[in-house]
Amino acid sequence: MGNRNPLIAGNWKMNKTGPESVATAKTIATLASNSPAEIEIMIAPTFTALALVAEVISSSRIFLSAQNLYWEEKGAYTGEISADMLLAAGCSHVIIGHSERRLYFGETDNTINKKIKTAINAKLIPVFCIGESEEDRESGKTFSVLDKQVKKGLEGFSSTALATLIIAYEPVWAIGTGKTASKDQAQEVHLYLRNLIDKLLGNTLANSIRILYGGSVKPDNIKELMAMPDIDGALVGGASLDPETFGKLFNYLK
Ligand code: 13P
Repeated sequence: MGNRNPLIAGNWKMNKTGPESVATAKTIATLASNSPAEIEIMIAPTFTALALVAEVISSSRIFLSAQNLYWEEKGAYTGEISADMLLAAGCSHVIIGHSERRLYFGETDNTINKKIKTAINAKLIPVFCIGESEEDRESGKTFSVLDKQVKKGLEGFSSTALATLIIAYEPVWAIGTGKTASKDQAQEVHLYLRNLIDKLLGNTLANSIRILYGGSVKPDNIKELMAMPDIDGALVGGASLDPETFGKLFNYLK
């Protein structure tokens, strides 16, 4: 097994203004200063809060992530945000291909592939999201859907290029619904994904890549999820918005 430090990541989605984000981040930074050092912590505020939050977490060990980026370097792309802009705002990570972006904003495996390429070239760490819908699961298509998302999303990359990549498995039916995949359901998929990475990109990457679980992760289920051998962290929506609750998540060992 590779050296896979657990990562607890908060995706704030379209919540919190700049000042609200700063207040939340300050509390998280305080809580993080007393938390186990081997557990990595990441937060992903909205674009307008990134630079402000970067300042308040600059002397903490919290990683800053954006929730999206555009693949072009610069130019006439009204409303879009480039990798350089994210780096200048203080980001080290970027979430790519979240199911809400696929569902509401027309993102495809192909656009996600371009975004991953842009992030890697800019030395931003991509948090690449995949997941099946309820319909996919009920019709027995979970693995074929994930297979396609991974193959297309990661098409054209070498294992070296993907050395920093983080995968987030988020079953769409478990996002914001209170329905968590059971620890065994999640482990089954995580192991499948690790084997798929092994097949596509080799054993070294398969052993070192971190695969996060996302979908209704809460303080009362994180411990059992994190105890599974192929679950390396959590990508958390709702329960990351309240700093005390999020603190319980990155202190799951306590
Ligand atoms: P919830 O934790 O609210 O289910 O959201 C999960 C998610 O989509 C994180 O990216």
